[in-house]
Amino acid sequence: MSNMRNISTRLSILVNLSILWPCILSLNFMNIRTQEMNKGNHIRVKRGWVWEPLYVTEEQEVKKPMYVGQLKTDSDGHDDSIKYVLFGDGAGSIFVMNEYSGKISVLKKLDREEKPFYTLRAQARNRYTGVPVETESEFVIKVLDINDNEPKFINEPYIAEVLEMSPEGTYVTQVIATDKDDPTNGNNARVVYSILQGQPQFSIEIKSGIIRVGSQMDRETKDQYQVIVQAKDMIGEPGALSTTTTVIINVLDVNDNAPKFPQKTYEMSIIESGIAGDIVGTLLAYDIDIGKNAEITYSIEERGDYNMFNISTDSLTQEGIITLNKLVDFESRNRRYNIQVRAENTNKPELFDTATIRIYVVDVDEPPVFLERQYFMEIPENATVGSYVGSVTAKDPDNTNAIIRYDILHSKFSGLFEIEPNNGSVFTIKSLDREVDYWHNITVTATEAKFPALVSHVAVFIRVMDVNDNAPQLQSLPDIYVCEKARIGQTVYTVTAADKDEPKPSQPFSFTQPPEESINANFTIADNGDNTATILTAQEGYSFQDNPLFYLTVIISDNGTPALSSTSTITIKVCDCGIDNNTQSCGKGGYFFTFMNSGVVIAIAVFILLILVLALLVHVRFRKNPNMISEKGEDLKENIVKYDDEGGGEEDTEAFDITGLRHHTVMRERKPKRTIRTDIQSMYRLSLGLGPDVAIFKEFLSEKLEEANTDATVLPLDYLHCYAFEGTGSLSGSLSSLSFTEANVSEIDSYY
Ligand SMILES: *[C@@H]1O[C@H](CO)[C@@H](O)[C@H](O)[C@H]1NC(C)=O
Ligand SMILES: *[C@@H]1O[C@H](CO)[C@@H](O)[C@H](O)[C@H]1NC(C)=O
Ligand SMILES: *[C@@H]1O[C@H](CO)[C@@H](O)[C@H](O)[C@H]1NC(C)=O
Ligand SMILES: *[C@@H]1O[C@H](CO)[C@@H](O)[C@H](O)[C@H]1NC(C)=O
Repeated sequence: MSNMRNISTRLSILVNLSILWPCILSLNFMNIRTQEMNKGNHIRVKRGWVWEPLYVTEEQEVKKPMYVGQLKTDSDGHDDSIKYVLFGDGAGSIFVMNEYSGKISVLKKLDREEKPFYTLRAQARNRYTGVPVETESEFVIKVLDINDNEPKFINEPYIAEVLEMSPEGTYVTQVIATDKDDPTNGNNARVVYSILQGQPQFSIEIKSGIIRVGSQMDRETKDQYQVIVQAKDMIGEPGALSTTTTVIINVLDVNDNAPKFPQKTYEMSIIESGIAGDIVGTLLAYDIDIGKNAEITYSIEERGDYNMFNISTDSLTQEGIITLNKLVDFESRNRRYNIQVRAENTNKPELFDTATIRIYVVDVDEPPVFLERQYFMEIPENATVGSYVGSVTAKDPDNTNAIIRYDILHSKFSGLFEIEPNNGSVFTIKSLDREVDYWHNITVTATEAKFPALVSHVAVFIRVMDVNDNAPQLQSLPDIYVCEKARIGQTVYTVTAADKDEPKPSQPFSFTQPPEESINANFTIADNGDNTATILTAQEGYSFQDNPLFYLTVIISDNGTPALSSTSTITIKVCDCGIDNNTQSCGKGGYFFTFMNSGVVIAIAVFILLILVLALLVHVRFRKNPNMISEKGEDLKENIVKYDDEGGGEEDTEAFDITGLRHHTVMRERKPKRTIRTDIQSMYRLSLGLGPDVAIFKEFLSEKLEEANTDATVLPLDYLHCYAFEGTGSLSGSLSSLSFTEANVSEIDSYY
């Protein structure tokens, strides 16, 4: 062992490290031998690692471990005492080392573009002692590049624009392709560009990829180019890899074209009936530029001595619209017009074109024309069916002899009239009534017998004239009263009359009384001359008792020719008018009280007195016979038991239980059940102070008294028990053991 150590200390290390550079460098061993002078008097050579240059070419198929290089130390005595060990990137997995020989092999195919070099460490140890023979050393296995990657275009897709007519050499765009191969290893990554399609319009700079205009282009010929550019590595030498890309180049418009009329002359026509603003025709000039560069403005260049036409530009369709400026008339004026129209580029007026337009005025077949713009006709309402109303006339402006046909356009009123189709005379076909409709507005049409398509219309207003066919009528009247104490000549009421006929203010209606009534009249009628008349008293006072109602006949006549009249009867009621002596209170119960005065009050008073006397009598009778009842051991009970009972609300029809009342009662004539129930309920309401039925209550009592009096042999046992009963509407249900339905009650009833 000590021997070995001595040896190792004497070792001088010789490191042969070779940094491997691509092919250009000849793969020589670089032996760097460091000599070191010892402090002693003899020279010692420092020995160490012996490296072969280590590299592996990428993309090589590795089927069995492939030798890469050998590691040696000059202290290796080839006696297998040294053990070589490998550490670092891929040690054991990608690279293995023979522990005896120090030979390094690669196990896998490598890719430089993935990992360009592997850093490893190696150590030599004494196999038996494990003591390092050499210090650990680092070395690199370089992966050698091959041209296995083609160039790739970046920033795709390429779309570029260039103005048309751009000069040769104008910059268009630039394409760039990159190559993943080692840029330091030969030309593997050196890309050159060329155009495969797109010449001669475009050229490309071989190294930079800048595309330039190769020759001038015209957008109007072709507005888009698809230039195919190829990128090749290896500066295009044999073995180079290549790729292509498409560059879309749009040629932009330049306003370099003038508008053009497709024709030099145009012919148009305008009908003589045309009015100002009518469209004569449209023109369209073409500009092969696009967008704003193709905008056209039209104008009339040469108007001549007439100013008949206008031209405007339709900004949407780019059309020139020629319109009529004045009326033209075939019969009287020029029949042909020539105008010069100019179409110019809106944004570049020096680019323009002109055209000549011939406009002919043509005669048209015009519809018939009515001699009047509208017709007014009048007809009395009592006109017989078939009466002549009026006539309309129309003429054909083109040919005065043309036969015209007339007709009435169907409408609401058209059914009442007909028109003679040949001469335009209007007749009635139904009877008219002004009081229903006094205007009959119809439309009459006129057509040429030969060309019925040309129709003219005219409005015919037919007024129905009034005939006095309605008598005046009194307007509806309220109740009219006269006070009993009225003095003679007092106003009782003012009546008004109306007539459905057309009112004639100059001739008011007249109001009269029939002659037989005007003698000894109780009331008189004064005609006010304005279609009203006042009723006046004609006697001193009226007596309700003697004659409560008066009937007054009035004859109302209009003063038409012939005059029509109507006869009406006015009822006047006598009223006592109270202390105020006015009729305001009349009719509001006053009339009723008038009746009451006359004895009814006395009758009622007598009736009440009778009841009181009866009550007194009963009282006295019970006082007289108290023993008679107690002898029988029975109690006289005539009680009304009252409980506070909330009732069941509207649903509660059984809030009152009449069982108690029925319990001990003896057979006797009774009123029907329903009446009793009603009475008792009224009573019950009364007991709560709710009901006003005093009379019924009294009646009930008196009935009971009467029964008791007339049937002395039977014990008068009258129970009236009101049990607290919450009714059917209660949520808690019935607490009462006595729950009677209608059916139960009826059963009990039938038993009696
Ligand atoms: C229509 O009434 C007028 C005036 O009331 C009268 O003169 C005429 O005879 C009447 N005509 C007919 C057809 O009844
Ligand atoms: C129109 O013709 C009808 C029937 O032929 C005739 O009764 C009427 O008088 C004529 N009207 C005119 C205005 O000629
Ligand atoms: C008919 O015409 C007259 C006159 O123009 C007008 O006063 C009236 O209101 C019109 N009647 C109807 C129903 O259109
Ligand atoms: C006027 O009234 C009295 C009764 O008050 C009656 O007898 C007489 O017929 C009345 N006169 C007329 C014209 O109604």
